[in-house]
Amino acid sequence: MTTLINRTAPDLPALETCQRHGNRPELLIEVLHDVQGKVGRISDSAISTIANALNLSRAEVLGVVTFYDDFRREHSRGLKVRICHAEACQASGANELIAWAQDHLVVQHNVELGHVYCLGNCALGPSALVGGQLLGRLTASKLASACAAQASSIHG
Ligand code: FES
Repeated sequence: MTTLINRTAPDLPALETCQRHGNRPELLIEVLHDVQGKVGRISDSAISTIANALNLSRAEVLGVVTFYDDFRREHSRGLKVRICHAEACQASGANELIAWAQDHLVVQHNVELGHVYCLGNCALGPSALVGGQLLGRLTASKLASACAAQASSIHG
């Protein structure tokens, strides 16, 4: 008789995080944020560990990780910039800013560019998060300056 045993070692940061949250499946989002905050990404082994600890399927955990833009399967390639593309920001030029950012920021400033849907800063659009900092009334030059400042503070 053959016994199947899962010999894959658990991901320790993920396991500790699940335990700290009482292995409660309804806290999956919090667990994922904490794991990513600790190690910078959600690895395959972390997904398996979280699924086991929270009594969820791997597909359920992976589905949440891939649904939300803020969760990363790989380490970040650079400064994280999230430009709002909701209606108020679109009305104040967000689409043009996004197009410019795709053409300029990703290469020049090693930016990981993404979108968000409203940052609660609608009256000051176009708005974005640059390295976690909320900025408003953005122009291309203001966004480039903010990225350069953030990059220099990261790299010294
Ligand atoms: S619409 Fe962009 S911050 Fe609300």
